[in-house]
Order: sequence, then structure tokens, then C-alpha cells
Amino acid sequence: MSDYTMRPLRPDETRAAADLFRVALHVPPVKDEDWPYAERMYQPGRTLGAFDTELIGTARSFDAELTVPGGRRVPFAAVTGVGVRSDRTRRGVLSQLMRTQLADAAERGFPLAALYASEGPIYGRFGYGIATRALNHRIDPRRAVLRPEVPSGGEVELLSGDAALERLPEVYAALPHYRPGMMTRPVHWWAGFERHWRRAETPLAAIVHNGPDGPDGFATYSVQRQSWRDPSTMDVTNLYAASDEAFAGLWRYLLSVDLVDTIQAEDRPLDEPTSLLFTDPRVCEVTAVTDDLWLRLADVPAALAARTYEGEPVVLEVTDPVLEGNSGRYRVGPDGVERTSDPAELRLGVDALAMLYFGGWPASALVAAGRVQVAEASAVTRAEGLFATRPSAWCGTHF
Ligand SMILES: CC(C)(COP(=O)(O)OP(=O)(O)OC[C@H]1O[C@@H](n2cnc3c(N)ncnc32)[C@H](O)[C@@H]1OP(=O)(O)O)[C@@H](O)C(=O)NCCC(=O)NCCS
Repeated sequence: MSDYTMRPLRPDETRAAADLFRVALHVPPVKDEDWPYAERMYQPGRTLGAFDTELIGTARSFDAELTVPGGRRVPFAAVTGVGVRSDRTRRGVLSQLMRTQLADAAERGFPLAALYASEGPIYGRFGYGIATRALNHRIDPRRAVLRPEVPSGGEVELLSGDAALERLPEVYAALPHYRPGMMTRPVHWWAGFERHWRRAETPLAAIVHNGPDGPDGFATYSVQRQSWRDPSTMDVTNLYAASDEAFAGLWRYLLSVDLVDTIQAEDRPLDEPTSLLFTDPRVCEVTAVTDDLWLRLADVPAALAARTYEGEPVVLEVTDPVLEGNSGRYRVGPDGVERTSDPAELRLGVDALAMLYFGGWPASALVAAGRVQVAEASAVTRAEGLFATRPSAWCGTHF
């Protein structure tokens, strides 16, 4: 069957969508006792369903803000919960869900959409590109000796039970967005965290670093071991540090926890100096470089105008096969962004533009890979300068 309809789901239909999504990811449907938490992850009006005789596909989003280079917080659709029933795949259901969702985001005035991808080949065709990347680290805490010049850090407080659920949202909300790519965490995100916190088989712990003006960093972690005699692994799942003292203080604490044989810290910023904390930098290995945030410019002129640029202007010719109104030529520079009829200097798809947007890839790399076509050679260096960001962009908030 290839005929189907698509519409926003009513609140009483979201559990079916949650189950469909989870089964598509090969994980069990939501348990009754988990549903009160999972239900709150669904922002009303933001879950799409595709139906033939019954629900066959779904995608949802929640509203949040993403910090773009220059510091502005821009509304974006945080896309998640995407799944199509395995007996209805490869007949265009996702394509229609994506088109509808993107058009809706642009219409509501959201310049950006973003997601974390389960697989690399899915989202590029809809104009998403890998905008930020991240590192996974493995640290041997028994060999890890901190260099003498590492800051001493402030007081680190261990939060347990409900205290963590009460404190962490306000600690995160008060942290400055010290990297482009950081996002706000609305209640729909924290509902997922609460579910994990309360229901995870291995208990989670949370620590907060207190600086001179209050909390300036936090981390969460869990420690897994099969049995008493087996080696144990600490998974650090969140680590935000708005100051050097907080970064050092949180690591001092994590390294000091007893009965830990390995520390894994996933999805860390590319330029975070973790290995430089140690007398032997090799105690901190990079085990993977992963894609972090996939970005989509839903409203290209608004998104381009939201961030700042340094250097000489460049004329980009952007092609957007999904939201065709975005296609056209744009002059991008420190004085602003405008549509132009001047000749194109660089030509690129809206997916490659997303890869430039946070400075996640230098323009020359995208040229080398054939993702950007060059009409004027000097424009490559100009684009590289315009889109560059320091520190490197990173989101780190999974959704
Ligand atoms: C990924 C998924 C949603 C795709 O749904 P779908 O309805 O089959 O997608 P479509 O039919 O609209 O596919 C559109 C195009 O993308 C391609 N595509 C879709 N999913 C793909 C995948 N996982 N790998 C490679 N190509 C894929 C299709 O082949 C098709 O290409 P074509 O236009 O050249 O024919 C579905 O396979 C699924 O539910 N997967 C498991 C759950 C999952 O990974 N969800 C994403 C969470 S981020």
C-alpha cells in the first residue's frame, strides 16, 4: 500500500507514536510505569503521524534555542522520535514527514532545525548537514596524574535523588552558552532526563562545581561493573564547564572516585584540552570522532543573518531542493546578509551550507570533497575566514 495521510497527532495518540519509534529502533515499547515521564517529552502539536489503515510513521520536535556564532540564541525545531514501521519503509513516508515538518518550522518563524542521526545516510537529502563534531575519550584513572599547573578547582557537590532533578535544570539554564552550538533545554528535554534518572538500571550520579559566583559547571555519570570482581567503567554523560576552574575541578572529582578502572567521556568538544591535563597525555585516548549536531537552515536568509562574520564578503549560490524559496544567491559578510544578483563565487547545497554554518568544516575541505563548487578561487579563503569559529562549536545535548 502506498497511499497514506499525514497530520499532527492528538495527545492521546502520542503513546502509539512513541512505541512505533522505539520498535523501529529495536528497543521495547514504553513500559506503563515509564509513560508518565515519556509522555512529558512530547510537546503538544509537534508530533506528526503518517497513517494508512493505522499509524505507519512518525516524527516529532520540541521548541528550543540554539546559540549561533556571535552569541545570539535562535529558535530551532529539535527534531527527534523519527521512525517508520519496518513493513512500510522505502516508499517515501519519511520524505513526506521531513518536508511537512521543515515547512512547518519555517512557517512558525524557526530559522533552524537540528537533530542527532541514527545513521549517516538518512538526512542529507533533506538538507541536513553535520554541523558539529565530537570526540569520545577513554581515560585510565589509575595512570592519570594531573600536571602541577592544572587549576585546583572549587568545591564539587554530589547531588542525589530528587535534589539532582530539581537543581540541574536551573544550573544548566544559568550557564553561559560558552560555545556556539549549545542549546537551551526545555521541559520536554528534562522530562527525558528525569525518566533516565529515575528508571536507569545503573544509577546516575550528578555533581555540580561551585565557583566564586555560584554553580559554573556540572557533570553526570554512572559506573557499570558486571560483578564485584570485574573491572568497572565510569560513563560521563554530561560535562559542562563554564570556566577553567570548573573544568579542572570536575575532572579532579571524576578521577578521584574509587573503584573505577576506566572512564569513558563521550561527545566532547573537538578542542577541549582534556589530554593536556595529564603528565602523560596518552592516558586520555581518543576512541572515536563522531557527528554531533546535524543542522538544517529552514529559513536560509534568516539563519545566515542571525550569526556574525569576520573578514571579507563572499557571494554564495545556495540550492535547496526541499524548500525551494531558500534557493538563490546571498552576499554574506560582516555588514550583514542580503540576496543579490551578483555572480556566484561559491555554489553549494543547503546541506553543505549547514556544515559551514557553525565553522565545523573549513570551506576548503568541503571544496576538496566536491560539496562546494568554486566559481571564484579567492572566495574559498574568504569563506573560510567568514565562517570560522573559536572555540569550536559543540552541542552535547542529546535529544
Ligand atoms: C530511517 C527511516 C525513518 C526511513 O524511512 P523511510 O520511510 O523508509 O524513508 P523514505 O522512503 O522516505 O526514504 C527516502 C530516501 O532515503 C533513503 N533512506 C531512507 N532511510 C535510509 C537509511 N537508513 N539508509 C540509507 N538510505 C535511506 C531511501 O532509500 C530513499 O532514497 P531514494 O529517494 O533515493 O529512493 C526508517 O528506515 C526507520 O524508521 N529506520 C529505523 C529508525 C531510525 O533509524 N530512525 C531515525 C532516528 S534519527
